[in-house]
Amino acid sequence: MESIGIGLAGFGTVGGGVYKNLEANRALLTQRLGASFEIRRIAVRDLSKLRPVSAPASLFTSDLAELIDDPAIQVIVELMGGIEIPLAFVRKAIAAGKIVITGNKALLAEHGAELFQLARERRIPIFYEAAVAGGIPIIKTVREAFIANRFESIHGILNGTSNYILTRMTDAGLDFEAALEEAQSLGYAESDPTLDINGWDAAHKAIILASLAYGFWVQSSDIYVAGIDRLTSDDIQFAAQLGYTIKLLATIKADADNAIEVRVCPTLIPSSHVLASVKGVFNAVWLRGDVVGESLFYGRGAGQDPTASSVIADLAESAIALESPRRCYGFTSHDLYGKLKPVEAVVSQFYLRLLVDDTPGVLAKIAGILGDAGIGISSVIQPEGHDAGQLPLVLMIHDANYGRTCEAVAKIAALACVKAEPALLPVETFS
Ligand code: HSE
Repeated sequence: MESIGIGLAGFGTVGGGVYKNLEANRALLTQRLGASFEIRRIAVRDLSKLRPVSAPASLFTSDLAELIDDPAIQVIVELMGGIEIPLAFVRKAIAAGKIVITGNKALLAEHGAELFQLARERRIPIFYEAAVAGGIPIIKTVREAFIANRFESIHGILNGTSNYILTRMTDAGLDFEAALEEAQSLGYAESDPTLDINGWDAAHKAIILASLAYGFWVQSSDIYVAGIDRLTSDDIQFAAQLGYTIKLLATIKADADNAIEVRVCPTLIPSSHVLASVKGVFNAVWLRGDVVGESLFYGRGAGQDPTASSVIADLAESAIALESPRRCYGFTSHDLYGKLKPVEAVVSQFYLRLLVDDTPGVLAKIAGILGDAGIGISSVIQPEGHDAGQLPLVLMIHDANYGRTCEAVAKIAALACVKAEPALLPVETFS
C-alpha cells in the first residue's frame, strides 16, 4: 500500500478540519484510493497556541522549510491565509517538485498567472477546490466535468457572510449593522469581516472561476467590485416591491466577441430565480454551458468540514496524479478569449434610487437627463409614507451602457432637488 506524505501549512479552522476528517475517514479513503495519506509535518506560526483539533505534538514545527526539505513529503497543503508568506512558500514547494494544494483564494487571484506558469514548467499540479465556494466542487466541475462547454455565463453567490446579512435584511427587515452583528455573534463573519463585506472575498473567487472558464488569468485591477456595506433596508424593500431580491452576485459572462465581463456587486435578481432562494450562509453557482445548458450547484461555501471536504478531494487528485502523472496542472491557458470588457462598456438594466425634493417638475428634470443620454426608463415608483418634503424615487432603467448611465447619474446627483448620493445597482434577468 502506497503511503503519500503530506506537509500541512496552517492548522486553523480548515487545517484542523483536514486533519480531523482524514483521521475519521481514513479506512474509507484508503480503500477508495488504494493509498494512505500520512500527515508528516504541520507548520504553524505559534507553537504554543491552543487548538480545538489535537494532533501529535511531534508533528508540529514553526519552520515552513522543514516541509519543503522533507523528501517524504510529496504534497504540500497550504491553508495559512495571507499572501506574501504563502506566495514564497508555494514557489519553493513547486521548485522542490511537490504537488501543491491551496485554499487561498487571495493568493491565486493575485498570483495565479505566475504560480500556474511555474507549475507548468515544473510539471507539478496545483489543486484549489477549497478556494472557491468551500464544499461545492465547482473547480473540478468547470475544469473537468464541463470541459466540453463554452461557458456563456457563470453567476455565483460566493460569500456566505454577505449572503447571511442580505438574507436577514430581506427576511427580517434588519438593517445592515444589526445583521452584521448577528452574523458575527453566530460565528459566520470573521472578527474583521472587511473582505466579506467589501466584496473582495467573493471577487477573488470570481477571478479564479472566470480565469478557469476562459483560459486566461483575470487581473484583479480589471474587474468591478462593490460590497454590500452601502446597501440600505430601503433598497431591499423597494427591490422586493418590484419583484426582485438583492444578492451580492458574481457575474461572469462572455459576449459574442469573446470579451469577458467579470463583476461582483449587489445586484437585483428576479425573486422567482433559483439564486434568489439561496439563503443564509449558503453559496451557489448557476452556469450556462453551450453543450450542457443550465446547471446549478448549491452548498456550504465556508466552514471547517465543507472546506476540508474539498481539500481532501484535492488530496485524492494528488494521489492519482502521483500514480499516473498527467498533463493537468490545475489551470490550462489558451487564447480563445483573453480580453476583459471594461466595466464602462457593460450593458445592463439598472435600479436607480434617489432621494428628492417633493416638488413639481423633479421627475421631469431627472427623466430629461436620462432621455438626453438615450437611457430609457422602464418603471418608476415613488413610495408612500416618507417624511414630507423629501421622498425616495426609484427608477428602473432599460438595458443601458454602464459608463453612460454613470455619467447621467452624476448629472442627476448634481441637481439641487436631489438630496443624497444616488444608489445605482445592476439588474440581472438571466435572459
Ligand atoms: N468568509 C467567507 C464567507 C468564507 O463568508 O463565505 C471564506 O472565503
